[in-house]
Amino acid sequence: MIVMGKFVVEKSGPLKGEVVVDGAKNSALPVLAATILTGEECVIENVPFLKDVEIMLKLLDLLGAESEFIADEKKVIINCGKIENISLPYELVKKIRASFLIAGPLLSRFGCVKIQMPGGCQIGVRPVDLHLKGFSLLGADIKQEHGSIEINSNVLKGDNIYLDFPSVGATENIIMAAVLAKGETNISNCSVEPEIVDLVNFLSKMGAKIEGAGTDTIKIIGVSKLSGVKHKIISDRIEAGTYMIGAAATKGDLLIKNVVCEHLRPVTAKLKDMNVNVEERGSEIRVYSFGDLINTDIKTLPFPGFPTDMQAPFMSLMAITKGTAIINETIFENRFMHVGELNRMGADIKVESKSAIVKGVDKLTGTQVKATDLRAGAALIISALAAEGETEISDIYHIERGYCNIEDKLRKVGAKIRKIE
Ligand code: UD1
Repeated sequence: MIVMGKFVVEKSGPLKGEVVVDGAKNSALPVLAATILTGEECVIENVPFLKDVEIMLKLLDLLGAESEFIADEKKVIINCGKIENISLPYELVKKIRASFLIAGPLLSRFGCVKIQMPGGCQIGVRPVDLHLKGFSLLGADIKQEHGSIEINSNVLKGDNIYLDFPSVGATENIIMAAVLAKGETNISNCSVEPEIVDLVNFLSKMGAKIEGAGTDTIKIIGVSKLSGVKHKIISDRIEAGTYMIGAAATKGDLLIKNVVCEHLRPVTAKLKDMNVNVEERGSEIRVYSFGDLINTDIKTLPFPGFPTDMQAPFMSLMAITKGTAIINETIFENRFMHVGELNRMGADIKVESKSAIVKGVDKLTGTQVKATDLRAGAALIISALAAEGETEISDIYHIERGYCNIEDKLRKVGAKIRKIE
């Protein structure tokens, strides 16, 4: 459901206090898809109550899964024992790219899947060729017609799969396809993101035999059956990083709780380069800033490089920091949609091909802006907190796809933000 609300944000003094981070959206989505791999009940904890998660559960229910989302306990109880349907409608598939993650587990457990090609999106073309290359090497037969894909296989057999790019989604899909395949699969140049490690931890508890998660080569020995288990989703490093940047942009002092500091190191390093103070304290991180900041260049890269999902929010901080710095976006070809909106607020940013040249300005001013995608929306909130006057952000359904209760969390630490329907 798209809620056509708006956020109205006024310039807010330093953000001060504590923010508790929810479970990682990008981990919850593949883990929920992976529950297809067993006919037994799974209990998934620390699940963020987000639109994308709701859509994933709706997709699983359409397949025949029985699920219950206990929102106040952040828990999903799901049983995929009665799945019979193996095809999904475009209406839902097009809403979240991650819907394609159900292809691997369906293929693995049932030997067939019919799914619509996910379309492109604002940030790039986002093909699924690497996912399909993996399925094909495992022995699947792939037919593409009229925008839909039918994948069949009598028996999946392990193979050596090299990814041309360490795609997060392709790595996840291929792992899920290979866990019930016969023999050994080796995926090289695979993604090493923390969410891959979380998915593998879940699959391993279920009985999968997987080695090397978190390195660029993963080995999977196929097993014949997986069991239902309980699993707690890791903390959302992108949500945490957004609040870290919010603290820096408002010269605030935030203690961000329920984080994995190690997953935040690329953001921490760049904030420190800018003169922001960051203190790691076990599962909490304190971010505070009072003096002048120094602008710094960033280049987005696969983990442990600087995350592309943090690029837009970080740009908001760079836009109000003295000096000129460059952002090099290497992951998605069209991830500068927010630049036009930030410039409407008085930022001085030019885009040249894959780079954005950010010239820090003394102040931004509030106006009407539009969230063009999820992280672009988060960037606008950060800019609005620092901008003179009032900013009205429309199309906030993008933001609600990835941030739990963002306005409540921000209000508690001093932000002047309200939602209007
Ligand atoms: C995931 C994240 C998203 C994040 C992205 C990169 C989820 C649900 N989403 O998306 O928030 O921004 O990782 O960190 O986890 N590519 C191909 N062929 C493929 C697959 C990908 O060319 O078959 C390209 C993409 O177009 C893109 C790059 O690889 O340029 C990275 O994409 P990928 O890592 O697959 O991102 P997602 O898994 O879609």
